[in-house]
Amino acid sequence: MAVRIDGKAVAATVRAGVAEEVAALKEKGIFPGLAVVIVGDDPASRTYVNNKKKACAETGIYSEEYALPASTTQEELLRLVETLNQKKDIHGILVQSPLPDGLDEEAVVEAISPQKDVDAFHPENVGRIMIGNFHFLPCTPAGVMELLRSQNIEVAGKRCVVIGRSNIVGKPMAMLLLHQNGTVTICHSKTQNLAEICRSADILVAAVGKPKFVTADMVKPGAVVIDVGMDRDENGKLCGDVDYANVEPKVGYITPVPGGVGPMTIAMLLKNTITAAKLQNGWQYEA
Ligand code: GUN
Repeated sequence: MAVRIDGKAVAATVRAGVAEEVAALKEKGIFPGLAVVIVGDDPASRTYVNNKKKACAETGIYSEEYALPASTTQEELLRLVETLNQKKDIHGILVQSPLPDGLDEEAVVEAISPQKDVDAFHPENVGRIMIGNFHFLPCTPAGVMELLRSQNIEVAGKRCVVIGRSNIVGKPMAMLLLHQNGTVTICHSKTQNLAEICRSADILVAAVGKPKFVTADMVKPGAVVIDVGMDRDENGKLCGDVDYANVEPKVGYITPVPGGVGPMTIAMLLKNTITAAKLQNGWQYEA
């Protein structure tokens, strides 16, 4: 029987801390502000954006939404990003992904001022993470690290396996575990002996995007299993990358889907927005 890591509860604690810090910043005349840009009408993106705005309102962060039609051109989107880069009351800029076909997401991310890049997707911020001299951490991997910290799970010296090598989760996740002195392996679709490598993991992070991909025979007894997946099972029900029902009895810690990593992502975005507000007001970042 595993400890079920309650992401909702941990996220609530982070958000309470954010609310306190926002109140303290306001006393100093600093009003953290986030701009959220959504292009087109992808329903999942709409839900994410609504949740982000709601979380800002609940913690006292000022937010602005820019909802653009799917017909928006690259030039129009870049012009908006440039306007937001210059806007003094906006400290963080988030362009919700995916963008409609025809828009160059990479160019848009590169146009965001690195000091306002609260997703930490800009190449400058990615590079900073690589060398360990960063202002922002990408929200989902940072949320995973916070979940591990919440349970006092030591990473140093542990064998960590990350399944998935995306730029927004897998790669930065591996780097953050490495920063904490984990011994890290990244697995992907071309990996041979995947199950065997996963079985060696003390800490297993699944970020593949395939429902119930991690089965009970792929985990070490007592392991820590973190599920970043947001998938749908054969009945259309929300589930993760881990076959929770069969894996849970075997491992030491596990995150549920929903209610695990998901709630952490927005909590870390709020933290990054505060960091951005501080940075733009001449404060050094405290790790
Ligand atoms: N789409 C799905 N997740 C994210 C995220 O963390 N940031 C942005 N900008 N878009 C996303």
